[in-house]
This record gives sequence, structure tokens and C-alpha cells, in this order.
Amino acid sequence: MKVFLQTFGCQMNKLDSAIVESSLRDAGYQFANNAKDADVVLINTCSVRDHAEQRVMSHLGNLKHIKETRPDLVVGVIGCMAQRLGSELFKQSAVDIVCGPAQIAEIPRLIAEVMQEKKKTVAVTEKIRQISPDAQSLERFETEYSGDDTDIPAQAYVRAMHGCDKFCSYCVVPYVRGLETSRSPEAIIEQTKRLAQNGIKQITLLGQRINAYEYKAGDKTYCLADLLEMISEIDGIEWIKFVTSYPSQKYYKEIMQAMAELPKVCRYLHIPAQSGSDQILKAMNRGYTSAEYLELLDIARQIVPDIAIAGDFIVGFPGETDDDFSQTVDLVKKARYKNSFIFKYSPRPGTIADKRLEDNVPQEIKERRNHELLKVQEEISRALAAEVTGRTVKVLVEGPSKKSHQVDNLPQLIGRTSGDWIAVFNGPENLAGRFANVKITRTTPLTLFGELV
Ligand code: SAH
Ligand code: SF4
Ligand code: F3S
Repeated sequence: MKVFLQTFGCQMNKLDSAIVESSLRDAGYQFANNAKDADVVLINTCSVRDHAEQRVMSHLGNLKHIKETRPDLVVGVIGCMAQRLGSELFKQSAVDIVCGPAQIAEIPRLIAEVMQEKKKTVAVTEKIRQISPDAQSLERFETEYSGDDTDIPAQAYVRAMHGCDKFCSYCVVPYVRGLETSRSPEAIIEQTKRLAQNGIKQITLLGQRINAYEYKAGDKTYCLADLLEMISEIDGIEWIKFVTSYPSQKYYKEIMQAMAELPKVCRYLHIPAQSGSDQILKAMNRGYTSAEYLELLDIARQIVPDIAIAGDFIVGFPGETDDDFSQTVDLVKKARYKNSFIFKYSPRPGTIADKRLEDNVPQEIKERRNHELLKVQEEISRALAAEVTGRTVKVLVEGPSKKSHQVDNLPQLIGRTSGDWIAVFNGPENLAGRFANVKITRTTPLTLFGELV
């Protein structure tokens, strides 16, 4: 039996897919590269913007056609859309399985059931604001994950936290990923040791607000800085990254101090601002002002001078005026991000912004602001990248680049620095999953080009 597993959305979904893949391999399944060659198609979905959901809907339309000639094909929708829409997804006739993020441990059983009993099945959390009854089986399932199926050699994600309680007014995540809970340091360490034994060199700790990690055991309360220290002691793990940070003072200096003092912790901070206008930040329920946000960046740079900082922004939030937008432009200029992810506001059903605020910024203004902000960011990225020219950087090699043109019979490779810069250079393919030193000769806003040292 062959499975085709397609993944949309954030790193959490990539991790869930890797865990599902590994459990299905253990259950004897093989993997296909497209739906045509597969007996089972699983789509791991994202609900964060309407566009992400529409792409899945159109895939399901295509799968319906494939199923007309191959009625035995099993189709499963897993992830955030599955949790958001539940059995409503059966309106798409191709769908046999609907399985939420907290139920992924059930997938091998659900597939077997659908094949034997030829009926549709759904597993989602009924009351998302309560701890799901599936939490314990998920925890056991997750801790066993050993990273044999990672996308990038020698790298793996490790979940530190589930869910989110922040309820930013635009965001669907708290409604699909449930309560914010931190996994025990014990489980995280056990899992990371297993990953290291399997050749993983870089782990990325995941949480929607990773810097809010907090776990009480006896009279000790562990924060992210403690976790970084404990993971640093694991032999074999050489680089540790963590995403995404939420702008807040709590534990912040401790975490930055840990980054400064622990050589394995990468000098990279992804800390979304979302807007530079205090009025919009308030309407977003973000809980900080632009001045407070910029102060956090100052603290980070004081403690870790060579830190690379990345941000996220939403343009066209309800009520965003030209003046609000120009404050966002100002903030981007002051923040000097290495790069920013910029999104056009997309109303999400059930969120506070969708219920209370009108989506009143016209699409063309959203597009224009998106484009303008990208250009401002591009100039900053260009200048920061140019500073690296002439220097030698250490990268963890991911593998051949997509464009791969050869020099002296050596393929073009891609690697990433500790500050998350992408470096492109020619070298032997067997460097994938290993560290290399690259002397940078030329740069563009997003990429460093160079030669293997
Ligand atoms: N937990 C992370 C982000 C999760 S979603 C954090 O708080 O930083 C990733 C990004 O998608 C967000 O940072 C935000 O910029 C964007 N986003 C979330 N909801 C959105 C919406 N309704 N419309 C447009 N962009 C959105
Ligand atoms: Fe969404 Fe806000 Fe939670 Fe991030 S912190 S996942 S933006 S609710
Ligand atoms: Fe999307 Fe779910 Fe991640 S909504 S952004 S895949 S947590």
C-alpha cells in the first residue's frame, strides 16, 4: 500500500506530517510522490488564511475525478482544516477521513478501518478549549518519533508546546490547535536524545509562543532558557533553533542570555510585530505598543550583538489607514529585520476580528501595501546581506538547490547559517546533512552566494 502525503501550513504541520509518515512506515506503508500512484492520499491542511483552505478545496475537487475511476482510493483530510470543519468536509465527496491535529496517532487505525468497512470516519476534538482526551496517546506517539523521515537531512522539529491561548483577534490557531500546554522537559529531552542517536544535528523547538514555554515540576519551574541549557548538553546536537517568539518581557532576558552564553543556540529570533500602529496592535489584541516592541529588539541586540531577527506583518487589517500603514513602514525601517513575512489580512470565521470588525480595506490597497512593505524590507535585507560579502560563514548543508547548475561537475548546494541566512555554493552532494564553511562572494536580499572553503 502506498501513501501520498501532502502538507500545507506552518512548521507544526510539517512536524505532524513527519510523525504521521514515520508511524505509517512502521505500519508497513510505502510512500508515493503523487496521488495517481497512491492507494491513500492524506492532505495535512492549514486554516490560517482563506487562500490556504481554497487550495485544499481545489485539490479535493481533483481527487474526486481520480476517485471516479478508482473508487478504492482512500482520501484523508488531516490538520487544522479538519479540526475547524469536522464532518462538514464530507460535503467534498472525495473525503473518507477527517482527522484533527490532536488525533494523528489514530491515523493508521482510521485508514485500516475505512479500507475494511468502506465507510467515512471522523476524529476531531469536540471541545477545543479543553484538554483533548487524545492528549496522552499523542504524547506517547510523539515521544517515539525518531526523525527517520525528515525533509532535510540531519534536521528535525521538536514540539515544545501545543496550542495557543493568545487569541489575537484575527487568528484561527487557538480554535484549531486548542489550549496552550508545554510538554515536559523530560519528554522533550528523551525525544531529542533519540533524534541525536539517529544522526540529527539541528533541532528546532516549536511553539506558537515558544518563549512562553513554562513547565512546573515539584518546586522548579522550567522556562525556555532552562530547556536550551538542557538540550545543549545532548551529544550530537550541534545547533538549536526555536520559533516563534511572542513580543513579551516574561523570560525574555533569560532566553537572550542563554542564546549569548550557549554556543549551540543559533543567533536567530523570529518575533512577529504584525503592525507598527498602536491602534491596530490594540485592535489585534497583541498586548504591546510599537515602542515596547522595539525595546525588545534593542535588548536582544544588546545581549546578542550578532543576532538575526525576522518578523511577520499583516497589512490591510480592518480600519488600517494610510497613517497606520506608514507607522508599520517606520517600524520595519527601525527594526532592520533580516527578512519579514508579509500577509494580507484574511478574515477567519469564528475569530473576534471577523465577528466584530468589517474587512474594509479594499483588496487593491492590501496588495499595494503588501508590495510596498516588501520593497522596504528588500532594501534592508539587501544591505544586511551585503555586509556578509568577503566573510566565511558556517552552514548546515540541506542538499542540492532546485536550480542546481554544476561547476566542475559539482552540484549547487543550499545550506543555512546559524542566523538562518540561505547560502548557495557548489560542492559534493554528500555534504548534505553536514556542516561546511562557505566564503561569501556575492549576495542578493535573500541569498548569500559563495565558495566552499
Ligand atoms: N504563533 C505565531 C504565528 C502563527 S500564524 C505568532 O504569533 O507569531 C503565522 C502568521 O500568519 C502570523 O504571524 C500572522 O502574520 C499571519 N496571520 C495569522 N492570521 C492571519 C489572518 N487572519 N490573515 C492574514 N495573516 C494572518
Ligand atoms: Fe495566533 Fe496570536 Fe496565537 Fe500567534 S500568538 S498563534 S498570532 S493567536
Ligand atoms: Fe496553519 Fe494550523 Fe499552522 S492553521 S499556520 S497549520 S497551526
